[in-house]
Formats: sequence, C-alpha cells, structure tokens
Amino acid sequence: MSRKIVLVTGANGFIGRLLTRALLAEDVQLRCMVRKAAAVVEEGIETVQGDLLEPSTLTAAMAGVDTAYYLVHAMAGGRAGFERRDRDAAENFVRAAEKAAVRRVIYLGGLGETGDDLSEHLKSRLEVADILRSGKFATTFLRAAIIIGAGGASFEMVKALVERLPVMITPRWVTTLCQPIAVEDVISYLVGCMKDERTSGGTFDIGGPDVITYKEMMERFGRIRGRNLYILPVPVLTPRLSSYWVGFITPVAPSVSMPLIEGLKNEVICREHTIRELIPLTLTSYDDAVRRSLAVEHS
Ligand SMILES: NC(=O)c1ccc[n+]([C@@H]2O[C@H](COP(=O)([O-])OP(=O)(O)OC[C@H]3O[C@@H](n4cnc5c(N)ncnc54)[C@H](OP(=O)(O)O)[C@@H]3O)[C@@H](O)[C@H]2O)c1
Repeated sequence: MSRKIVLVTGANGFIGRLLTRALLAEDVQLRCMVRKAAAVVEEGIETVQGDLLEPSTLTAAMAGVDTAYYLVHAMAGGRAGFERRDRDAAENFVRAAEKAAVRRVIYLGGLGETGDDLSEHLKSRLEVADILRSGKFATTFLRAAIIIGAGGASFEMVKALVERLPVMITPRWVTTLCQPIAVEDVISYLVGCMKDERTSGGTFDIGGPDVITYKEMMERFGRIRGRNLYILPVPVLTPRLSSYWVGFITPVAPSVSMPLIEGLKNEVICREHTIRELIPLTLTSYDDAVRRSLAVEHS
C-alpha cells in the first residue's frame, strides 16, 4: 500500500523546518511547500513551490495529499494588511484543499480568549482557524502561547531584550500571565495529532508546565544567562511605542514585533488539557526549554 502524502506549508519557517525533520522518521510521503522555488528545506525531501496568495500555484502542492499542516502566517510581509493577507491565504488554501479532497488539516495558531480586547494578531490567528474549519475536511486546531526555541520570533525578542538591556521600562502588560511551551513539545503534539485520529476535527490548548508572567519569563531567562534584570512596568508606554524600541534592540522586524507586543495584554493560558490525555508527554519546564534553546544556538 502506498504511504499517505503529508504536506507541510510554511515548511521554511521556524516550526515548519523542525516539523519536517521530525516527520522524516514517520512512515509517510513527505511534501514541503515553499514560496521560493530555490528554497530547500532538507536534502532528499520533495519540495514544491507554492504561494497561498497565488491560487494557481497550489494545485501541484495539494495533489494526492491526505493530511496538510497549516503553518503559514503573513506577519513577516509587513505590519500593514497582514490580517487581510492571512485571510486570503487561508481562503485560497481551503479552496485548493477541497478541490484536491484533502482529508485532514492540522493548524498551529495562537492561544487567547475571543473578545473585543484581543490583539489584532491573535484575532487574525483565530479568524484563520474559523476559515480552515469551514472547509470540507477535518481541521485540528492547536492553540499555543509563546513557543520557546532558537529562531522563534517571540523567543528571539525575549532573548535580545534580556541580553542587551539590564534595565527595562516596559508596558504594564508584562505582568500578564502566559504559558510558554518548548518547541520540541509543540513538534511532538503536531506529529502526535497526525498519528491519532481522535484529534481529527478537535481544538486543543497546548502549553508547558509553567504559568508565569512575561516579566518572570525575562527574569528567569536573565538568571539562566547570569544577568540581573531590572524591569519597571509603567502605565504610559503604549505597545506601538515599545515595539519601536524593541525594533532597535532585537533582530526581529517591527512588522513582526509590533503585533506580538500588542498581544502581551492578553492572558494566554490553557483553559483545557484534553491533549494531555490523548498525547501524553513529559512536558519540558520553561527553564529547561530556555537552556536547550541556548545550547542549540551555540552548537
Ligand atoms: N513562534 C511562536 O512563538 C508561535 C507561537 C504560537 C503559535 N505560533 C504559530 O505557529 C505557526 C508557524 O509560526 P512560525 O513561528 O513557524 O512562523 P514563521 O517562522 O514566520 O513561518 C511562517 C511561514 O509562513 C510562510 N508564508 C508566509 N506567507 C505565505 C504565503 N503567502 N504562502 C505560503 N507560505 C507563506 C513563510 O514562508 P517563507 O519562508 O517563504 O517566508 C514561512 O515559512 C503560525 O501559525 C503561528 O501563529 C507560533
């Protein structure tokens, strides 16, 4: 019997690259979709060129696919209009996947409660989930807060702030709670969902064992790096203003850092833990995830 075809979109991104490597160990026929024809994800992997904003490029990528991972977001393309680009991309994906009779889709998006106060970035991630769920295939939606791993935009922002600024004046939202998760655990959940049909069509919150504030995240990161941090939350600093200085300090582009910083006001913690019963993992602590990520960067 031929192996099922599994498509990874966003295969050249932070999560996409790691997932691709992990899927190599599975008994599936792996296909990666990249925007630039020249981009090679990993030697020996079938790579097809496709851009979700250009529907005509999607037919070859979708042909014969059983399960597709949706790991695309448009923030890096500029702050202006990213919500519209993400909406268009998801709608084009749904149309192409339905035409190719894709059976399952697995989407990794953001945690956050629905409501008017939700940041534009998190709202947009939820909108993408709704668009995917409207498709004639079963969508599994994994909702994560900040993912701790070398190369991840949020992680690189925290790292640069801690390493470059001993004293930080921050918006009061740094006292918001969040539930970070190690990238290795995210990859285990993504692969686990593909292998476990019970997750088909479900929405699951995924998070690590620690529920901490962003302030505590930076302080703990600082301690691991042997640095003392002084963080002074002030009420007057707007996310827009702070994203500009974060832009100066970190390697992350303002188009990406601004929506992420806007999201700091929203509490992002798991409200349900069904995934822990379906896919049992020994979850990595925040401190171990940071140590592991730093070790990867220096290896
Ligand atoms: N990183 C985190 O901390 C975090 C936390 C929670 C949830 N997530 C979710 O995880 C998913 C993956 O995020 P990530 O951190 O891996 O992001 P990333 O590194 O920015 O990767 C995003 C990918 O999307 C691709 N892409 C953008 N526009 C596209 C288009 N029009 N057509 C096809 N591909 C397109 C990019 O392609 P190019 O390589 O060509 O630019 C890139 O490979 C997202 O849904 C995100 O919301 C991430």
